[in-house]
Amino acid sequence: MSPFRNRSLLTKLNLIIALLLLFFFALSAVLNYHRQKQFVLDQSVEKARLVSFVAIHAREYVSNELLIGDVTLNRERYGLIPVVSSNRISQRVGAELGYHVRQVSTQYRNPMNAADPFESEVIEAFKADAGLREYYSQTDYQGAPVFRYLKPFKADQSCLECHAAPEDAPEFIRKLYPQEKDQSYNYQLGEVIGAVSIIIPVQELYSQIYDNLRNELFLNGAIFAALIALLAMLTRMAVTRPLARLGDGIAKIMRTGTFSEKIPHRGEDEIGRLIVGFNEMMSHLEERTRHLEESERRFSVLTETARDGIISFLKNGQVILFNREAERIFGYSKREVLGESVALFVHADCSSLGDLNMEEYLEEHAEGLTSQVQRVSGKRRDGSRLTLELSLSRAESDGQFFYTAILRNVT
Ligand code: HEC
Repeated sequence: MSPFRNRSLLTKLNLIIALLLLFFFALSAVLNYHRQKQFVLDQSVEKARLVSFVAIHAREYVSNELLIGDVTLNRERYGLIPVVSSNRISQRVGAELGYHVRQVSTQYRNPMNAADPFESEVIEAFKADAGLREYYSQTDYQGAPVFRYLKPFKADQSCLECHAAPEDAPEFIRKLYPQEKDQSYNYQLGEVIGAVSIIIPVQELYSQIYDNLRNELFLNGAIFAALIALLAMLTRMAVTRPLARLGDGIAKIMRTGTFSEKIPHRGEDEIGRLIVGFNEMMSHLEERTRHLEESERRFSVLTETARDGIISFLKNGQVILFNREAERIFGYSKREVLGESVALFVHADCSSLGDLNMEEYLEEHAEGLTSQVQRVSGKRRDGSRLTLELSLSRAESDGQFFYTAILRNVT
């Protein structure tokens, strides 16, 4: 048998509801956690795109301005090289946000712009798949969780001025980055030169999510405990206590046998109706018992005041009723003869009884005895003989035959 079966109704109910609540709370916590993580990811993508746009637009803007102003770049104006200025602008924007922004390449010109293994892999992927316009993922960077975003830079006409054949590049570029040391020449139009790479630390966001999750769990736990306590109280009030009261009421009625006892009830719920039904049943029983007692009393008055002796006995002769007149006739008290055999009152003269026991005798002679009034010899307590007029009748009650003898002393 499962140990659950022996628990009280209240415990079972609460256990089921507690498990259900726990399940829903856990489910909501897990869903919430995933939703928040997804939110962080979406936000990171959004911000990384913004920063990369800053880089791209800054480069385009500076590039245009230089063309319009017909500015010649030289070593002193290094910071005005579109890529350099856009890189520096986006780096400042990134620094403001706590991000790490770089423009990197696998074939770098400035070793500061060398792609790390992660970036190299992504740039290779950009080179292999021209349709790939951005790449992002959540990984680790220097031991901390980060969000990484890369967007490819493809060579347009303006780039080729400094990234195509080295002999076409401006003189200061050639001087700064001599052909033999530089890998960033000889690009074709549309070729991937490198990428803008953005690293967003998410450690703080994650710990915020964990904090939120912990707070939510605490709050849910408190709500959970309060709900369970409330539920326990409600079920105790609405179910367990009324049921216990009903049980006590029944036990008391069984103990005392008084049906007049009423079980108090509140409300018209199922248990209330059950108690009302039970009380009604008890009222009926009480009434039935009273009727029964009354008819018994009437019957006993009838038999006790009868002018004739009345003796009822079972088919084995056992006496079950012995009225006052019978007491007077035979000289026995009721107490003495109840349960004894009716043979006690038969005189030895009554030869037909002979050696037969009463049951056999009755079986054989009942027919004749009941058909008409008989004259028989009876025996008093003191052994003296009596002449009696006997009228015997047979009846059945509870599937048992019994006889009633009505006797008149005619001695
Ligand atoms: C005026 C010359 C010039 C032009 C035009 C130019 N670049 Fe560069 N590029 C440079 C120089 C100089 C560097 C090194 C920057 C540094 O020191 O950080 C560089 C660096 C880069 C880098 C960083 C990797 C590395 O090699 O150091 C990328 C990526 C890049 N350029 C892409 C482009 C693209 C794309 C264009 C066209 C939209 C472009 N460049 C146009 C001169 C130029």
